Amino acid sequence: MFNDELHEMTLSEDGSYTAYSKEYKEHYHSTKDGALHESLVKHVEPAFGLKKKQDEIVILDICYGLGFNTLATLYYHQKNNLSSKLKIYSPELDESLVKSLVSFTYPAEFDIFKPIIEALSQEGIYEDENFYIEVFLGDAREYIRKFENKFDIVYQDAFSPSTNPMLWTQEYFCDIKRSMKKQGILTTYSIALATRLALFENGFYVYLNVGKGYRDATVASPSKLPYFQEVDMEHKIACNPQEKSLRD
Ligand SMILES: C[S@@+](CC[C@H](N)C(=O)[O-])C[C@H]1O[C@@H](n2cnc3c(N)ncnc32)[C@H](O)[C@@H]1O
Repeated sequence: MFNDELHEMTLSEDGSYTAYSKEYKEHYHSTKDGALHESLVKHVEPAFGLKKKQDEIVILDICYGLGFNTLATLYYHQKNNLSSKLKIYSPELDESLVKSLVSFTYPAEFDIFKPIIEALSQEGIYEDENFYIEVFLGDAREYIRKFENKFDIVYQDAFSPSTNPMLWTQEYFCDIKRSMKKQGILTTYSIALATRLALFENGFYVYLNVGKGYRDATVASPSKLPYFQEVDMEHKIACNPQEKSLRD
């Protein structure tokens, strides 16, 4: 049974289940945008729009949670017949959650990934000729410091800045930037000015991710990105001089 004293499965508006965390008092996804839909439109599609032609794509998925961003990535890869090799690295603090994911009710789109879901839940690793995926059971802050100039994509999908501030600070995004390639792309649902400031202060260019059927989100990169509308950070700062990025 997936539900326990800390987690409760909840139906979201696209028909996929997410969960509610009684510890963080937050859902793992926006129930309004829908768990699968949110993963695709706020993370996978904006990132792969720019990266899908690469032979190899290396991804940091912060944090694994129910695994939707990792699994939606595999789904997108399969649906679009991509030939890129994927390497996905995902930290997660909650070991009992990861172990219980074998009994989570995933959307039908993930049915063919059942062996991968099981391997990640039980062994923390999966590998075949196209995919290398590891789930690191431990602190994301410590984990990301192991990497330099490695990631093409970072899915920044921690609980909200007010609930889990240590994964949104200026110092945290400094480590994230070091772990990314110069042309890398970071995706996040957060549109908070404090989040955008923490990115901007580390030299990220900050962009809007807007579309029909979901709430606005953010993408960012150490390099200028095509297609996306840049957020005028100087203007935002001038209009909100009291706003500060979070600090450790
Ligand atoms: C919003 S959920 C992630 C949702 C996930 N991307 C998904 O698609 O299901 C945030 C996750 O971060 C984990 N977490 C919180 N602090 C952490 C830390 N310091 N290191 C690693 N994981 C952490 C929580 O246990 C939770 O599973």
